[in-house]
Amino acid sequence: MPNWAPQLLLLLAFLSYKTTLHVAAKQWPVLGRSTRFYDFKVQTRRITKLCETKNVVTINGMFPGPVVYAQEGDRVIVKVTNETPHNATIHWHGVRQKLSCWFDGPAYITQCPIQTGHSFVYNFTLVNQKGTLLWHAHFSWLRATVYGAIIIYPKNGVHYPFKPPRAEHIIILGEYWLKDAIELEKATLAGGGPTFPADAYTINGRPGPNYNCSANDVYKIHVVAGKTYLLRIINAALNTEHFFTIANHKLTIVEADAEYTKPFSVDRLMIAPGQTMNVLVKADQPIGKYSMAMGPYMSARNVSFRKTPAIGFFQYKGTTPNGFAFSAQLPSFNGNFSVMRVMDGLRSLNTNKVPLEIDRNLFFTIGLNVEKCHSSNPKKSCRGPHGGVLAASINNISFISPNISLLQNYYYNAIIGHFTEDFPAAPSKPYDFVNGAPNNSPNDTQSVRGTRTMVLEYGTRVQLILQDTGTVTTENHPIHLHGYSFHVVGYGTGNYNPNKAKLNLVDPPYMNTIGVPVGGWAVIRFVADNPGVWFMHCHLEIHMSWGLSMAFIVKNGKGASETLPPPPADLPRC
Ligand code: C2O
Repeated sequence: MPNWAPQLLLLLAFLSYKTTLHVAAKQWPVLGRSTRFYDFKVQTRRITKLCETKNVVTINGMFPGPVVYAQEGDRVIVKVTNETPHNATIHWHGVRQKLSCWFDGPAYITQCPIQTGHSFVYNFTLVNQKGTLLWHAHFSWLRATVYGAIIIYPKNGVHYPFKPPRAEHIIILGEYWLKDAIELEKATLAGGGPTFPADAYTINGRPGPNYNCSANDVYKIHVVAGKTYLLRIINAALNTEHFFTIANHKLTIVEADAEYTKPFSVDRLMIAPGQTMNVLVKADQPIGKYSMAMGPYMSARNVSFRKTPAIGFFQYKGTTPNGFAFSAQLPSFNGNFSVMRVMDGLRSLNTNKVPLEIDRNLFFTIGLNVEKCHSSNPKKSCRGPHGGVLAASINNISFISPNISLLQNYYYNAIIGHFTEDFPAAPSKPYDFVNGAPNNSPNDTQSVRGTRTMVLEYGTRVQLILQDTGTVTTENHPIHLHGYSFHVVGYGTGNYNPNKAKLNLVDPPYMNTIGVPVGGWAVIRFVADNPGVWFMHCHLEIHMSWGLSMAFIVKNGKGASETLPPPPADLPRC
């Protein structure tokens, strides 16, 4: 290959990203360590789905948004300009942001939102990471339509730990509302009760033939019999965990959250919002058209949710396009077995350095709450259980979003009044977490409200036990930590019992989002070696709005390599 060829291929990939969501494996934009520039314009665009036309917020008018292609070790520079009337920020979900906390993106945590007419340049390096991640808006519920893939290829000369696939495809699972996303959050919070189910589930923005007016709004992958394909599956849905399956085909998981895993095959997988999974699929069935289905995993009790699966097609060359399609079997909506099957199979391919010694052992309960009704109009605004208002918490503390940037405040030692540093290492009173919430009346399920953070010394080896509670309902919560991946060393059902829990300290998966089992627990470990303010929250947006979040402040260590540099000059103001 002549030496200008990689640059040409990069240019081609860049030009083609507007029209396609996949690149053939041979077109990798492989270069040496370099810088990738992207220009993101936050724009409103009119789109028609489900026979209704409405304005949605997009990046560059695209839905799903543009793909960020890079290579391990690259610097990525994205200029984000906000041309909408709303505030906006972009979060690079799963990017570890080593010494670049300023560019992480959660509104009011690491930055003030980018206001109408303003821009902010995100600038970070992809250190020791490769695979599939996602970016999404991190202000209100804008990420309902503002999301896209991040693809990080291995370095030059490094290959995948599996045979190169014939082609790669991005599969982004989403939820689509006919209501405006920001209004949706406001209406839910104002009502005090559960949120509204999505109007459709989507695969790459398309609901497929099960939905009204969507017979042609369907995503298709064209395959050649006998070849193997890499699917980069991303769950960008707002409020629902999802199952994914392809009729009659096995999915071989080879990567989760941009870390290779020991390959293992399943018929269907569960992927939580914020998680990414790469799977290999061999087109080893008779020539035909096979459905790909995405449907809800709903582990909570008594909630209404959309049940209609989104459908796409996995279509062999030589099939009549409008012919019969083999239908895909999803698990039942509470199919815990299929969830455990995937969790049990996830093992890191490379033995990661799991911290064996622990400096801080934390125990966080995660779950829902019911607050007392303070409204004079309970019918309108206290639609939670027993006439209360729904909330959510960690260690019974509901996080209140500040209206300044925590990181900026912390960095300039201006803590006063905006946040506290007293987030507790364990709940104030232990009880039977899973079964024990006596009854769901507002009196015994109130949380404490506050903007509380926990300070960690640089280099602290942390073990964090996440325990689901049964208040209101037990539920699988996808907990996401910004700025780090963590080793998922254990999980189980019921209350965590240190004498019985079996931990995997050899090859646990290394993830950024963990679906804590319904009515169960998970144990994660990480070394706090990235200074900054790092948000941790449930990636079901409604739970985050209700307060299921907190922030770690990781202090600087010694010298420049352990110290967060000063903020960029264009950091937005509140
Ligand atoms: Cu993908 Cu704070 O989230």
